[in-house]
Parts: sequence; C-alpha cells; structure tokens
Amino acid sequence: MKKQHVLNCQFSSWYNQFKEITIKSRIIDLPQEFLDYLHADGLVLPDSCDETFDRHDLEGDSDDEVVWDDDTRVAKAPSFPQFEAQIKSSIVKLGGKVFPKLNWSSPKDAAWIIHDNTLRCTCPRDVYLLLKSSDFVTHDLTQPFDQCDDHTEGDQLTIQYQLVLREWHSVHPGLEFRCFVKNKKLIAVCQRHHASYYAFIHTDRDDIISDIQTFYWQRINERFPDSNYVFDVYRKKKGKVYLVDFNPFGAVTDSLMFDWEELSIDSNTTSESPIFRYVESEMGVQPAPYHTSGVPQDFIHLASGEDPYKLVDFLKLKIQQQNDEDDNTSD
Ligand SMILES: Nc1ncnc2c1ncn2[C@@H]1O[C@H](COP(=O)(O)OP(=O)(O)O)[C@@H](O)[C@H]1O
Ligand SMILES: [Mg+2]
Repeated sequence: MKKQHVLNCQFSSWYNQFKEITIKSRIIDLPQEFLDYLHADGLVLPDSCDETFDRHDLEGDSDDEVVWDDDTRVAKAPSFPQFEAQIKSSIVKLGGKVFPKLNWSSPKDAAWIIHDNTLRCTCPRDVYLLLKSSDFVTHDLTQPFDQCDDHTEGDQLTIQYQLVLREWHSVHPGLEFRCFVKNKKLIAVCQRHHASYYAFIHTDRDDIISDIQTFYWQRINERFPDSNYVFDVYRKKKGKVYLVDFNPFGAVTDSLMFDWEELSIDSNTTSESPIFRYVESEMGVQPAPYHTSGVPQDFIHLASGEDPYKLVDFLKLKIQQQNDEDDNTSD
C-alpha cells in the first residue's frame, strides 16, 4: 500500500465528489493549538465547556501539559474560541446532533465515555471528550501511513488535519455492509457489525447483494481514483443504498469476516459476483469489538488515578448527565 492510497481515503479527498450519495457533513481545519491539545497527555476540557474548576488537590503531577497559574494554582484549561464557534455553527447547520471523526477515523472506541454510549455529539465538549479518549484518533494523528511501504518518518506533519462533523443518523447496524474492491472489481461484501446475528440478512441476501452491486457500478466504480479500496455502505431499504466511508485496501482496515490473505488472491480468478458473508445463526456471533482497545486503557487510567484530570472530568460529566436526566424526568 502507498501513501497516496491512504490520502485518497481521507474524508476531504472524496466528500465533494460523492456528496449526493453520502451523509451531509462539514469539514473544519484543526488549528495548531487544538492539534497540540489532542497530542498532550491528560484530559482537561476547555474552559468554555464548564465552569472553572479548582484543582488544588491535584498537585504533584508535574510532567503533564497543564499550565499552573502561579498565584492561584488553578489549572488553565485550553481555549479555542474560533474553532469552537465553527463547531457550534456546524452542529446547528447539521440539525443539532452530529457524528465526529478526523481525516480517517471516528472515535468509536471511546463511545463509552459519552452519555448513551454512542458518538452522538450536541456540543463541542462531547467532541473534545471523544477525540481525546480515542486510540483510533491517536492513530490518525501519529501514524496514518504506518502500513505504507513508501512512508518516511514525519510524513504525517504534512497533513492538514480536519474535524469532520456528519449529520447524526440512527443507523441500524444490521443494514451496514463493508465492500472490498480489487482491480476495480467488487470481490467481497460482508456484514459491517459481525458481532450480531440479523435473521433478515439471510432472507434478503439476494436483494442486498444486487442493490450493492448496482450501487457500486453506477455510483462508485470509475469515480474513485484507486483500483483497490474498501467502501462502507448503509442499505436503508430495498433499492436505497448510501455511502458511509472509504478505507484503504490493506491491514489498516478491519477485514471483518474475511482475512487479508484471501482478499489478496488474484481477482481475475474469482467469480463475477462478490462473495457475501454474514452471520448465519446465533451460534456464529463473535465477541463485540473494542473490548480490548479504548475501554480498558481508559478505565485503567480512571481507576489508578494515573490521569487525575480524566477522572475529574469524567466525574463532572457524570454529575452533569445525572442533573440533565433529573431535569428531564422532573419535566
Ligand atoms: N452520521 C452518522 N450518524 C450516526 N452514526 C454513524 C454516522 N456515520 C457513521 N456512523 C456509525 O459509526 C460507524 C463508524 O463510522 P465510519 O465513518 O465508518 O468510521 P470509521 O472509519 O472510524 O470506522 C458506522 O459503522 C456507523 O454505524
Ligand atoms: Mg472508515
């Protein structure tokens, strides 16, 4: 895989071209201060996200990025007023609820930190918290080209990092599929969330595969610049397929119900219709993903107090959520 393949899958590289068949989105360039904030250890939310918080009890944590005010010993939270205003206005323009991601990845390993275990954001604070808590986001920031045979150290410094906010949709996970294209041929399709069994997939299998093939030939093939790539779709109903994302054809992308060796065989020897894999019974259900990525790490930080700011912000967030819920139930 080459760097150019990864670059072609960046959200901003394909969005304009495929606008009419994908979810409405807005792209905001990340200012350097915000990039520095994402790279820094610890999780202090910007001031505007909450009232100032007195951190007298947190002395002794000398090697993190928080700047202490000499007189008051209050941690100075970062502030990005212009960037924050852009996020707020994008959220409004996208209907009040958004799904966030960076150039390639969403913080799906960090969903546990938000109210309802989803990536639904309604304010900049939600966005910051998710981005700061995700290993996938860190991967985008630090080693987006790690699987490329032409990459050299520091290549990521040339990237214009961006925050992508997408209109929020309650996506039914059983209606999402991952599609593998090799030498411009759709060779394989599988269930995107293979930790679950959906009986209707077997019943509708012929229609699903025929809708995806039509979508590929009419809307994707010839318009995407590469010969090998992976795209994700949402088949909302019969005859209605939407594009969700493009991903590089290689180990950085989860091959889900296939393995990369079998996908790399000569595509001329495969049959005309793609191989379609889905979970065929309750017995085929696998453990849910991300149990071994973001969640334990963050819980370890919370539990050990190794990252006291994360703990403080997490507790504040939980109190805020509790208050919001109390307000809602008393309505
Ligand atoms: N606009 C959206 N609203 C709600 N959920 C979404 C939206 N876009 C994507 N998702 C959900 O998040 C998952 C990951 O989205 P995707 O953009 O493919 O991120 P990644 O590239 O990090 O996997 C999708 O499988 C889908 O279930
Ligand atoms: Mg993706």
